[in-house]
Amino acid sequence: MHPRLILLSLGLTAALPILAAEDKEVADLYQFNCTSCHGAEVYTRTDRKVTSLASLESQVRRCEQNLGLKWFDDDITDMAAYLNTHYYKFKP
Ligand code: HEC
Repeated sequence: MHPRLILLSLGLTAALPILAAEDKEVADLYQFNCTSCHGAEVYTRTDRKVTSLASLESQVRRCEQNLGLKWFDDDITDMAAYLNTHYYKFKP
């Protein structure tokens, strides 16, 4: 079964918020695709390159395109939102 479906059915029985399921899914996507070159330290270092939500999305797209992953726009925004929630913490 697709992980999203497992999480969704868990959500129905255990009232797990759908948002948490999505966050978990992006986290898996992240672990799988985004940890081979750099760890989370590049997001939190003092001289980090990304300085806004818009530039975060551009950078996620740049790395994703370098990897040839062919993500949809939604995946890019979800990943940027995920990194923002956990690391960058820019105000929208
Ligand atoms: C092929 C190697 C590689 C992979 C895999 C990779 N990146 Fe990167 N990423 C880089 C490089 C190189 C930089 C620039 C780092 C630097 O300037 O020190 C970078 C920088 C970044 C930054 C900016 C960090 C800052 O300074 O604020 C973000 C955000 C980022 N990557 C997101 C991602 C995401 C999301 C993925 C998974 C889709 C990913 N990266 C996978 C090579 C990679």
